[in-house]
Amino acid sequence: MQLERRLIGVRAAVRGLRSDGGTVALVPTMGALHAGHIALVARAREVADYVVASIFVNPTQFGEGEDFDAYPRTEAEDAEKLEAAGCDLLWTPRPEEVYPTGFSTTIRLTGVTEGLCGASRPGHFDGVATVVAKLFNQIRPDYALFGEKDYQQLALIRRMARDLDFEVEVIGVPTVREADGLALSSRNAYLTEDERARAVALPDALGETAAAIVAGDDAGDAIIAAKAKLFEAGFATVDYIELRDAETLEPVETPERPARLLAAARIGKTRLIDNIAVEMG
Ligand code: PAF
Repeated sequence: MQLERRLIGVRAAVRGLRSDGGTVALVPTMGALHAGHIALVARAREVADYVVASIFVNPTQFGEGEDFDAYPRTEAEDAEKLEAAGCDLLWTPRPEEVYPTGFSTTIRLTGVTEGLCGASRPGHFDGVATVVAKLFNQIRPDYALFGEKDYQQLALIRRMARDLDFEVEVIGVPTVREADGLALSSRNAYLTEDERARAVALPDALGETAAAIVAGDDAGDAIIAAKAKLFEAGFATVDYIELRDAETLEPVETPERPARLLAAARIGKTRLIDNIAVEMG
């Protein structure tokens, strides 16, 4: 696996990969890789001839007081995992390669970014959209893979690619979970043993609520019960539990089209997010 830190180098490396006419898939990450990221690489290998992964802890998507400085940085281990997973090229840009002096451009989406994490993390999705647009321009991938775990992020990237005519197919990959159902996340590393044990209440509550809605229960009542369950389990705050249209992310009361139940809640100092499909039979 080749590793590049300079834009000029990664562009030449991608040209080299493409020289036999093969296709390229991009797996953008912020490192601290776990099995969820490796599932993205595995899917990328199925859809494209060559896989490029990026590792960049993007400062513009962290708000004030968020965990930019504390975010786990494990580049050597990450590179080993990517190589073992069959990644061809690793792009780990220096910050100045991504944000040169005087950088003045921000991509902001409306609609899909409103509410949910867009409400509790102001500016976060501007940072995500801007860096992903840059990664698309840097690598020019045929495919780009993102986890469904960050469902609102996936929705906004699909929308941005369509709106701005990026020639890339955005592919969502199902969330990888621990044996008890907790979604894998780099931020799970912040959980104490006790918090980790309690955190399973989040996927449990989502699963029960989705099942209740599919069975015909009122979504509003089911969501109130889910919030109570999280507080009972020791969650300190619940930023949101909401039922949204699976594609547009518009609020939904009774799902007639595929919907998604999305949640964010804090246990101790850690903010966890998760989501689950709600599809009427
Ligand atoms: O999901 C992530 O790890 C990040 O938000 C992404 C897509 C790599 C952009 O920095």
